[in-house]
Amino acid sequence: MRFSGKVALVTGAGSGIGQATAIRLASEGAVVVGSDINAAGLEKSAEMMGEGAAFHPEVSDVRNRDACHELVASVVADHGRLDVLCNVAGVARGHRVDDVDQEVWDLIMGVNVEGMFWMSQAALPHLESSNGNIVNIASNAGLMGQAYTVPYCASKGAVVLMTKAMAMETMKTGMRINAIAPGGVETNLAAAFGFPENPDMELMGRYMGMRGMAQADDIASLVAYIASDDGHRIHGSVLSIDGGMTAG
Ligand SMILES: NC(=O)c1ccc[n+]([C@@H]2O[C@H](COP(=O)([O-])OP(=O)(O)OC[C@H]3O[C@@H](n4cnc5c(N)ncnc54)[C@H](O)[C@@H]3O)[C@@H](O)[C@H]2O)c1
Repeated sequence: MRFSGKVALVTGAGSGIGQATAIRLASEGAVVVGSDINAAGLEKSAEMMGEGAAFHPEVSDVRNRDACHELVASVVADHGRLDVLCNVAGVARGHRVDDVDQEVWDLIMGVNVEGMFWMSQAALPHLESSNGNIVNIASNAGLMGQAYTVPYCASKGAVVLMTKAMAMETMKTGMRINAIAPGGVETNLAAAFGFPENPDMELMGRYMGMRGMAQADDIASLVAYIASDDGHRIHGSVLSIDGGMTAG
C-alpha cells in the first residue's frame, strides 16, 4: 500500500499502459483520477478495478491546454491534493518521411509533446506543495533512431529532454520528475502502429529486440516503483525497460 493517502492523476488511463498504471496505483491505495479521450476505455478500466477501488474517470483531451489546467484544478478541488502525475497518453504511427502530412505531425506532437507539457505545467505547483512526482512515458524510440518512425522518435526524444529540463528547473524543490523508456509493449498502440508497404526488414530488425514484447503491467510496476517513496532518489532519470533493446 505504497500510495495510501496519495492522489494520482493518470492520462491515457483508458487503455494499455495507462490502464495498467491506474489499476496498479489504485491497488496500492491511491485515489486515482484516470483521464482519456476514450470514454468507453475509461469505463472498462473502472470495471477492471473492481469494487472498493477509488477510481474517478474523466474524459479530457491532453492536446487542449485549458482542459489540462481544468482537469488538474478539479482533481485538487475534489481530492484536496495531487501527489503523482503519470503522463501516459500517447499516439504512434508508422510512415516513411515522404508520407508524413501536417495532420499526422500535429497529432503526434500535440498528444505526445504538448499534452505532456500542459499537464506537467498545470500539475507542477501542486506537486511542489506535496513533494510529489511526475512519471512520463517516453520510449526506446526517444533514445535511438528508428526507420519509418521519424515524428514519433522526434516526439519521444522531446519527452526525454522535457523530463530532464523540468528536473533541472525543479531541482531546488522536493518534487521529482522522471521518464520511462519502454520497448515494445502489447497494447492497442503497438497493434495499430502500421508500417509502410514493403518496409526494409534489415532496418526494422535493428529495433525489434530479441526478447519479445512486454505486457502493460510490466511497465506499470516500474511506474509504481519510481512514483512511490521507494524511488525517492530517482530524479531527472530516463529508465529503460526494453528487454535489452537499447543495450547495444
Ligand atoms: N505499446 C508500446 O509498444 C509502447 C512502447 C513505448 C512507449 N509507449 C508509450 O506508452 C504510452 C501508452 O501507450 P499504450 O501502448 O498503452 O497505448 P494505448 O493506445 O493502449 O493507450 C494510449 C491511450 O492514450 C489515449 N489518448 C490518445 N490521445 C489522447 C489525448 N489527446 N488525450 C487523452 N488521452 C489520449 C488513448 O485513447 C489511449 O487510451 C504512449 O505514450 C506510448 O507512446 C508505448
